[in-house]
Amino acid sequence: MATALVTGGTSGIGAEFARQLAASGYDLVLVARNPDRLASAAERLHADAGINVETISADLSDRADVARVAARIEDAEHPIDLLVNNAGEGFRTALASADVTAHEHAFDVMCRAVLVLGGAAARAMSGRRGTIINISSLQTYLATGAYAANKAWVTAYSQSLAVELRGTEIGVTVVLPGWVRTEWHERAGVRRSSLPGFLWTQPEAVVRIALRDARRGKVVCIPTVRYRVLGWFARHLPNAAVRRISAGISSGRDEASPSDSAGGAESSAMKADTA
Ligand SMILES: NC(=O)c1ccc[n+]([C@@H]2O[C@H](COP(=O)([O-])OP(=O)(O)OC[C@H]3O[C@@H](n4cnc5c(N)ncnc54)[C@H](OP(=O)(O)O)[C@@H]3O)[C@@H](O)[C@H]2O)c1
Repeated sequence: MATALVTGGTSGIGAEFARQLAASGYDLVLVARNPDRLASAAERLHADAGINVETISADLSDRADVARVAARIEDAEHPIDLLVNNAGEGFRTALASADVTAHEHAFDVMCRAVLVLGGAAARAMSGRRGTIINISSLQTYLATGAYAANKAWVTAYSQSLAVELRGTEIGVTVVLPGWVRTEWHERAGVRRSSLPGFLWTQPEAVVRIALRDARRGKVVCIPTVRYRVLGWFARHLPNAAVRRISAGISSGRDEASPSDSAGGAESSAMKADTA
């Protein structure tokens, strides 16, 4: 039986990957920080799909924890066939902020961990079939702050890894979702009601399309037609227009964010990030 390792597999998009992979017969290794949520997710998935679920409580901003997850991926006795680098979180720190702690934390979780775990998977899957799915964001094509910059890194990294692994049986797919209904916005302090309703997608559709595209060997996956169209415009509009749109999105979020009133002068100077 094949085994998939999903980071951030207890909530939102990651939990939906776990659910759909379990339904198609994969055994699972779930990685997240909260051990209680990991245990209840594992229990539910085992009860619903009858598959084996292993859990690793790890904070992917911690280098020792990332190394522990990488070692699990490279455990040749219990091979991982599919890696989903999904864990991530929004943050609202200005690029010019003197304190770069939040930037370093975000980079460690959304870029460094993706690099280390992706490399571990590529080595472990060498000489056999394997799949690496990285969750980026449509913000890859925007200029909406540090989160967008991190996700642009994930997209470029994934395409480069696909090039590096050309001629092997390891597929790499990077997924660029638009807005998805998960806990992400609440955790990032972004009010969902500030976003137009028609733009929302559900994790079920995002994951179904991502898995389909990965099976087809597609390297860049933008789930749902409406976001493919928006992605096309973001890639083909003049850069100045993209920056103007990005400024509009960022300032709209600043006005809408509840943390503006709670966060004082510093946060009101920050640009809010969307997913
Ligand atoms: N929702 C959107 O609109 C949207 C759009 C585009 C892209 N994305 C991306 O999709 C991915 C999943 O987001 P989501 O919307 O599903 O968010 P979510 O519902 O908040 O879930 C995040 C998951 O990641 C885990 N996680 C967060 N920080 C972690 C850390 N430091 N170490 C280990 N695990 C960590 C969380 O569990 P613990 O808290 O227990 O660690 C949770 O399982 C992220 O990369 C996000 O940037 C989201």
